[in-house]
Amino acid sequence: MAGLLSNKVAVVTGAGSGIGAASALRFAAEGAQVVVADIRGHKAEQICADIQDHGGDAVPFAVNVAQDNSVADMIAFCVEKFGRIDVLFNNAGTLRPGTAVDLSVEDWDLVMAVNVRSVFLGAKYAVPHMQKQGGGSIINTASISGLHGDGGAVVYAASKAAVINLTRALSTDHAPAGIRVNAICPGTIETPPVQRMMVDPAALAANLQAHALGRLGRPEEIANVAVWLASDEASFISGEAIVVDGGLRARSPLGKIGDPRPIGMRPG
Ligand SMILES: NC(=O)c1ccc[n+]([C@@H]2O[C@H](COP(=O)([O-])OP(=O)(O)OC[C@H]3O[C@@H](n4cnc5c(N)ncnc54)[C@H](O)[C@@H]3O)[C@@H](O)[C@H]2O)c1
Repeated sequence: MAGLLSNKVAVVTGAGSGIGAASALRFAAEGAQVVVADIRGHKAEQICADIQDHGGDAVPFAVNVAQDNSVADMIAFCVEKFGRIDVLFNNAGTLRPGTAVDLSVEDWDLVMAVNVRSVFLGAKYAVPHMQKQGGGSIINTASISGLHGDGGAVVYAASKAAVINLTRALSTDHAPAGIRVNAICPGTIETPPVQRMMVDPAALAANLQAHALGRLGRPEEIANVAVWLASDEASFISGEAIVVDGGLRARSPLGKIGDPRPIGMRPG
């Protein structure tokens, strides 16, 4: 297939659902050969079947991105199958809600391993191939939770902030080899875990209100950005954390000038 990613080989993790699935489908539609990787192997197989039904080229791979050997095997599988790796989309992630008091040490370790160690491992095994090939693009899914002090999910917020700065450090180290490393910071995106949370009408109303565009994002809207970062169109973009949040962060919590304001914040 001809497209933005013609002749490129991509690995997408967490590709069995949500943002990863939408991205794997879009990568393939843009001409990439795709390794569709997920801890739920059957979900990866379903997405591959979907890609193949649309004329794309994809193979499934069951991976646990938190485990050293598993990530090493995933990258080796990609290179064995397709001869190279041009794009690594480290997208798999997990969330455990809770304050520091509520969360167990096991929850902390799990979230940090799935969300942060995974990015380190992906780079560890993909970069040597990209160096030999003369370049590549690594994309990491962070979150707006890594940019502000989200309460109620402290390890998730810490992990996504770590992903953002790990992205910067990796981009610095590997730029001389022509490897670009960027992160995407989504706002609230309608994926299965979010749909489960949004059955609570109060949670839905708060989220609709927080996003200036007045709606949640769609997985395809994150895939659009991932495709662009993966492509040569983004050839001078590296070390960035690109916010895709429907205007959430741009908005003042105080609302518009003229709205009632807390005492001390009133003009004059
Ligand atoms: N949906 C949102 O609002 C939102 C917002 C900001 C960031 N994110 C991030 O986007 C990414 C994708 O989330 P989503 O909303 O599409 O969720 P999702 O549950 O739809 O997809 C995540 C996929 O990752 C897989 N996965 C989980 N642990 C894994 C592991 N150890 N190894 C391999 N695969 C694993 C799951 O099986 C699942 O298929 C995550 O990193 C998440 O933190 C999501």
